[in-house]
Amino acid sequence: MKDLKVLITGYEAAPFYKRGGLGDVMGSLPKALVEIGVDAKVAIPYYNDIKNKYHFEKQGEFEVIFGGRTERVSVFFEKSVNVPFYFLENKSYLSLSKAKDKTKRMGQFAFFDLAIVEFIRWLGTHHKWHADIVHCNDWHTALIPLILDKVKLKTSTILTIHNLLYQGIGSLKVLDLLDIKDQETKVLKRGVPASEMNVLGEGIIHATRVSTVSPSYAKEIAKIEHDHNPISPFLIEREHEGLGRHGKIIGILNGIDYDIWNPAKDESIFHKFDVSNWEVGKKDNKDDLLKSLGLEDRPTFCFVGRMAAQKGLDILMKAINRISHLDINVIILGSGDPRIERSVLTVAKKFSWVKAELAYSEDLAHKIYAGSDFIIIPSRYEPCGLIQMIAMRYGTLPIASNTGGLKDSIANGKNGLLFEKGKSIRLKKAIRHALNIQKDIIRYRKMVAAAMRKDFSWDKSAVLYKKLYGEMIGKI
Ligand code: GLC
Repeated sequence: MKDLKVLITGYEAAPFYKRGGLGDVMGSLPKALVEIGVDAKVAIPYYNDIKNKYHFEKQGEFEVIFGGRTERVSVFFEKSVNVPFYFLENKSYLSLSKAKDKTKRMGQFAFFDLAIVEFIRWLGTHHKWHADIVHCNDWHTALIPLILDKVKLKTSTILTIHNLLYQGIGSLKVLDLLDIKDQETKVLKRGVPASEMNVLGEGIIHATRVSTVSPSYAKEIAKIEHDHNPISPFLIEREHEGLGRHGKIIGILNGIDYDIWNPAKDESIFHKFDVSNWEVGKKDNKDDLLKSLGLEDRPTFCFVGRMAAQKGLDILMKAINRISHLDINVIILGSGDPRIERSVLTVAKKFSWVKAELAYSEDLAHKIYAGSDFIIIPSRYEPCGLIQMIAMRYGTLPIASNTGGLKDSIANGKNGLLFEKGKSIRLKKAIRHALNIQKDIIRYRKMVAAAMRKDFSWDKSAVLYKKLYGEMIGKI
């Protein structure tokens, strides 16, 4: 069979530009796909933030008509590891990674999606590379299937939902900019008279297939109560046939990049280690970490992540207040919502054994994964979650909410602990349980080794995507 040609696109891709887990996936999945023989290319906007750090080769340019005006888009190129990356440049729409207001952001990504469709043609003309599949990620690229339909370009599309919370709800005026008539869209209109649209929903309707980043999250989002789910019209419309034009929403668990997350080769950590010498390795890393933070030698729990409501820091803060008599350390790393940051600081001021670093430091994150005993992941929901996988590879046992991808990657009692989501009392109990496990050295050793041995590389999941791509083309 000839190689499948897949163009993968989204808002961010590591190492060039990363704000969250989507960036990690956009950086690591294409690499794994290329390794198993998929002809994958990646395209993202060429933000100023990227230009300030990298200088890529210009390969050409093309024009798009947006809002009745002709706009020029330049194509820049870089081959990263084994994956061809393309960066689309346009000063008016693609310079800022985060346009200030909502309407501008809607316009910005509508523009990017239109540019991607034109870019597909450009790749055909200039490189004789004709995409079989366009793989869109989250709402930022969810208008691509609709635009492809409109211009009658017959390319299959898959839309992966990394987080259903972000849907791109905003003014219907975006359609005028794209020169799309209301009638060409499905159930996207909201309000009476209709004034808003839901970009992610439109993607769900028009994409050939829809996927999400874990099997459990796929089940959870299909069940969200319709009253509270702005996407419900799309779910209802698809109730009998699943999401997307064919079949059901499919959940494929993400992997992590084993070249980056490998305690045996990690240059950021004090003592490199693997499953054969983790006891010494982790002890040295822990000593180093605790010393640098001014903490005493005690069982050490950590939290690493974005400070967003989803991540459940309030649950952790409540649990900390309930366990203040225990002899432990808690290290918190991350930034985000100022209100959440303030509440974390208040707790850190109250207890000397709680340390909070309200910044995002990749380097410190590596040290924390390597030097902690347990990682707490109290997410209210978690489409996949990558930090439990990273922590486990570094021999740090996860204590996580029983939801989404956390549930799919952690075996309760075997390589980590799961507790009922949203319940600080349950988290408190799980922390006590973890301390008891650590005292039972034989059991603890067994769990750490099991966590470190669990395979979270992309190998398995990349194969599932390849299979899905293959099925999609078979059907067209
Ligand atoms: C989003 C989700 C997270 C997932 C990541 C990558 O950030 O919240 O659970 O791991 O996307 O798919």
